[in-house]
Amino acid sequence: FLVEKGNFRHFMAKEMHEQPEVVAHTLAHYLDMANETVQLPELPFDFARLERVSIAACGTAYYAGLVAKYWFERFARLPVEIDVASEFRYREAPLPANGLSIVISQSGETADTLASLRYARQEGQHLLAVVNVPTSTIAREADVVLPTLAGPEIGVASTKAFTCQLATLAALAVAAGRARGALSTEEERSLVHALVEVPRLMNEALSLGGDIEHLARSFAKTQDVLYLGRGTSFPLALEGALKLKEISYIHAEGYAAGELKHGPIALIDEKMPVVVIAPHDAVFEKTMSNMQEVAARGGRIILLTDTSGAQKASLETEATLVLPDMHPLVAPLVYAIPIQLLAYHTAVVMGTDVDQPRNLAKSVTVE
Ligand code: G6P
Repeated sequence: FLVEKGNFRHFMAKEMHEQPEVVAHTLAHYLDMANETVQLPELPFDFARLERVSIAACGTAYYAGLVAKYWFERFARLPVEIDVASEFRYREAPLPANGLSIVISQSGETADTLASLRYARQEGQHLLAVVNVPTSTIAREADVVLPTLAGPEIGVASTKAFTCQLATLAALAVAAGRARGALSTEEERSLVHALVEVPRLMNEALSLGGDIEHLARSFAKTQDVLYLGRGTSFPLALEGALKLKEISYIHAEGYAAGELKHGPIALIDEKMPVVVIAPHDAVFEKTMSNMQEVAARGGRIILLTDTSGAQKASLETEATLVLPDMHPLVAPLVYAIPIQLLAYHTAVVMGTDVDQPRNLAKSVTVE
């Protein structure tokens, strides 16, 4: 199977730009677009009777799981615990009699994630895997596999696999909400409708590339970057920091914006960029007050928001990247793109090996 870069300079660039298409493809697999409902393959368990979901994954897949935790809790009123697979496999977590274990993996071969799946089997959990490689070990060992239809991902830093994981998990969370009676038919319809809009919104996000390329020139001169977000933008902050450190080798940290006061505020100076991820959602005002705290200390603010957020934000920023307004459910899928572009363009300016960053492997099959 030959995968080529086409007109792109790197596989990562090609894979970022494929996202509208592969996410549309993945969504089409899980949604009945005509009736605006979710349509999953038959599941060997009943969401209505589940007590708890336990998610385990590594790296970027873990952050997809972290977003899904917010969704399962909000839309399905289903309690979720989540851990990185290297901790989950050893912490001897007691798991409930009617529990579902979800593992998420692009490759389906990550050693710790596979071990987590096996631990959950031992503990009598239902096993669901979200994987991109359908022939992988994890896909073979799970009770049910929800494939992400991202196609082969070559760049070591995961991009399109992440957004396809989010698309799959969003459909699953909506299905869980319906099965548990937490969502009305109308609510399901509006969530599905929001998902159908994602590929178009992703194209708009990709069009921020030029502005981000410009911003990357100043990022390439910094030592540290802080990413902040609340709610589902918190995992996005973690993912933004991960992407940046993976491919540009710039030190970056992602923090829940509300934790700013508990440590990272000490780092604020006129040198370190602070990327604030703040769609105009239920926690927007809270994030704005954190941004205010950064501004009051002379911090450099890069705000990533939407049209409504840009109108409401009263502070001066170094740069504001504006996306269209969208349903809060889909914000993580769309906000992922500027986050990826920022890491990518910074790495290109720095001249690192974007597709094969030092010391990293695409798939970590040993402990
Ligand atoms: C490695 C890769 C990451 C990936 C992680 C989990 O660290 O470099 O991009 O997110 O493994 O891999 P998986 O295949 O399980 O999703």
